[in-house]
Amino acid sequence: MAENRMEKIVALCKRRGFIFQSSEIYGGLNGAWDYGPLGAELKRNLKDAWWKAMTQWRDDILGLDGSILMNRAVWKASGHEATFSDPMIDCKTCQGRFRADQVASTPCPQKPSKMVTACGGELTEARQFNLMFKTYVGPVEDDRNLTYLRPETAQAMFVQFKNVLEVSRKKLPFGIAQIGKAFRNEINPRNFTFRSREFEQMEVEFFVRPSEGKAWLEKWLTDRIAWYESIGLPRKKIQVYDVPAKDRAFYSQGTYDLLYEFPFGAEELEGIAYRTDYDLKQHQAASGKPLEYFDEETREKFIPHVVEPSAGVDRTVLALICEAYTEEGVTDEKGNQETRVVLRFHPRIAPVKAGIFPLLKNKPDLVEKARALAADLRKHFPVFYDEAGAIGRRYRRQDEVGTPFGITVDFETLEGAKEGPLAGRKDTVTLRHRDSMQQERLAISDLLPRLTAALG
Ligand code: GAP
Repeated sequence: MAENRMEKIVALCKRRGFIFQSSEIYGGLNGAWDYGPLGAELKRNLKDAWWKAMTQWRDDILGLDGSILMNRAVWKASGHEATFSDPMIDCKTCQGRFRADQVASTPCPQKPSKMVTACGGELTEARQFNLMFKTYVGPVEDDRNLTYLRPETAQAMFVQFKNVLEVSRKKLPFGIAQIGKAFRNEINPRNFTFRSREFEQMEVEFFVRPSEGKAWLEKWLTDRIAWYESIGLPRKKIQVYDVPAKDRAFYSQGTYDLLYEFPFGAEELEGIAYRTDYDLKQHQAASGKPLEYFDEETREKFIPHVVEPSAGVDRTVLALICEAYTEEGVTDEKGNQETRVVLRFHPRIAPVKAGIFPLLKNKPDLVEKARALAADLRKHFPVFYDEAGAIGRRYRRQDEVGTPFGITVDFETLEGAKEGPLAGRKDTVTLRHRDSMQQERLAISDLLPRLTAALG
């Protein structure tokens, strides 16, 4: 069932232009994905919602847009060069390479019905494989010019801590927020976009007094769950995993993973880690530049502690699509039973906010009015104008991509409403609600305030 559901979601993503395989015409590139027209809008809406909640709506977090390429010294000091690795196992029989901790759930490339542990292939001992992509800065490809594509956005926020502090004149507690690409040469990318080699992160480094670290970890846990709820992921589908000390980074004094119940199992969307003063301390020691904070009240100098909520953009997009995907039995205009596929996105993150339809395409007055309405609303949010096919089909096409509202210009728009509170009034339309399929009559002049309020 779950596999089937996931297959349908992947097919819908391609069919309707949410997500395509990267370099598809050349056979693709494993672990890389392109977002199509609707996927790009969805992703932007998600990132905007996060950015607003983290920066615009609070005055204790500031934004940063750091570079992807950084001095190699950053990755030495952070510990990534020495330890950012996964255990890897080779199969001597098929030459496949697998993550050692996932072999029991990875199908054999030659006998896909069996897992790598059960296919009979001869496996090597596990060895560590560093996940950072190497690259060279400048024309000479030697060790002096080596660096890496960043495997997380976090480090730019640590190394710019002092600059941001100075320009903003903030006092503790305060944070730095960043959204951006990260790259990891995952041994086995899997579950569609869930584990990719190129992906985006939304991270906050929140700097606090050492005595307040634990309390802030708890506060961030509550805030982050509430944020996922605000974009349409219900609380009951989010699991909180309190990572035991033995599985945490050695410097962490507490880490919560937020897992979403995907069709392929409950998997991590975000990690919220209390990283203590590890990162700033490492960079201070390696760079020789002071990264301390001077507390004017107590006259103390110390390295702040950090709580880091770190979320994946692509994983959240996938969770939103999985959550929204619904199939339901409905009866069409002719009384036939059919399956309606609906993406029940929260209006705030839906890629297109309203579909705009003239009832008939061969009636110039209807078309002109509908086009004018689309041009007007387009200034405020993305709309989709569609005049092709039966109106029921047009509604279904928008249901399938999660458009929350359908607006139809019909003869009553031109001649006056036939009944109801707007009877006799011209310039009214039908407003159809995606989830309930209920329709109501509304004055065109009331559309914008009504929709804007619903879009939050
Ligand atoms: N700065 C901390 C950090 O990077 P992480 O748990 O390794 O922590 C944070 O990554 C988030 O980034 C994850 O919770 C996940 O949402 C996302 N992420 C990590 N690896 C990913 C991958 N290979 N593909 C897609 N998203 C990934």
